[in-house]
Amino acid sequence: MSKKIRVGMIGYGFMGKAHSNAYRQATKFFPDLPYEPELKVFCARNEERANQFASNWGYDQVEKDWRKVVESEEVDLVDICAPNNMHKEIAIAAAENGKWVLTEKPLSMNVAEGEEMVTAVKKAGVPNMVWYNYRRIPAVTLAKNIIDKGSLGKIFHYRANFLQDWTISSDLPQGGEGLWRLDVNVAGSGVTGDLLAHCIDTAMWLNGPITEVTAVTETFIKERQHNITGKVEKVGIDDACAFLAKFENGSIAIFESTRYARGHKALYTFEINGENSSIFWDLHDLHRLKYFDHGDDALTRGWRDVHVTDSEHPYMDKWWVPGLNIGFEHSFTHGVADFFASAKSDKPAQPDFQNALQTQKVCEAVINSGNSRKWENTYVEL
Ligand SMILES: NC(=O)c1ccc[n+]([C@@H]2O[C@H](COP(=O)([O-])OP(=O)(O)OC[C@H]3O[C@@H](n4cnc5c(N)ncnc54)[C@H](O)[C@@H]3O)[C@@H](O)[C@H]2O)c1
Repeated sequence: MSKKIRVGMIGYGFMGKAHSNAYRQATKFFPDLPYEPELKVFCARNEERANQFASNWGYDQVEKDWRKVVESEEVDLVDICAPNNMHKEIAIAAAENGKWVLTEKPLSMNVAEGEEMVTAVKKAGVPNMVWYNYRRIPAVTLAKNIIDKGSLGKIFHYRANFLQDWTISSDLPQGGEGLWRLDVNVAGSGVTGDLLAHCIDTAMWLNGPITEVTAVTETFIKERQHNITGKVEKVGIDDACAFLAKFENGSIAIFESTRYARGHKALYTFEINGENSSIFWDLHDLHRLKYFDHGDDALTRGWRDVHVTDSEHPYMDKWWVPGLNIGFEHSFTHGVADFFASAKSDKPAQPDFQNALQTQKVCEAVINSGNSRKWENTYVEL
């Protein structure tokens, strides 16, 4: 019999839905988990919408104030799906109340906040994780397994992009619901913390620590109307960012992210080139892994297009028959499954807060380098 873990969920936006769905799915498809999530308390400030959300997903109770959730005797796990400026306060309060804590990425607004959060979960000794979900797309996990086997040989290059186009209009306001990502006081940074954080997390998971970076950042639209104050205000986020990086293993990298790449909605790609083989992955085709092996017969050598849907592939024995795809939302179900499977073990699911703090350090070094126009050390410790 698996033990029930009562979930307190904060936020009904994009991620509130993705996570609620994952808690609902996890034990159905991963029946051997030692814990079973129970959707207990849902929290958001708009009562009517909170009630609708709670009834749709099956939460027992609704709270308007997140403090009541972290203090509730009826909650074992707090999941933070609120904007970035709220992660620290909620996570620390949850840990102090002995709750298991999951937070959406990025861990925090900056490194100093992230360090406080790491200290809090360590002091409380509570299981914790940050939802860098791309690690748990089967094709990306397969890339990790291939790299860990040493199949690529020495790695020379890492290349990643995360491109969008939704902020090109200067009429788009900043701040408030849906647009908090453009408000630096709520988001912490622009594309660096929002999109490149994903690329950096995947990159360091696959290829080890990033030690140094040099970046160019740009804010194309300098002022926007603010939805909450009603005034035209300076835009403090990076609209676009490109950076070069060095990894501890000697490889070099180029990363680019923007919300001004007309035609691209969420084009996350990465490519890794080693002495023996190369790997390429594209979020738009997320169940495929492109693999080139120089050791193949010269006459038929070329890029393989691996359809990552066989039962031998990571996570796929839990889903449909070979050949049938799964999607973005399943990466969150895998997150719940991995977190619960190892919540109390010596090897907790990754990235935990300590691990996600390393991504925060790279993000901060990138932003600092954009300002200083110099190479910056990341001080990553993995
Ligand atoms: N892993 C991913 O792929 C991914 C994708 C999108 C967002 N995110 C992260 O998830 C988090 C939330 O992003 P989103 O896209 O779901 O945002 P969203 O704007 O869709 O939803 C944010 C939610 O937070 C709630 N909220 C804000 N202030 C609150 C308060 N004081 N008390 C209670 N609830 C409050 C809002 O009402 C809303 O329900 C962010 O940290 C973001 O970076 C991660």
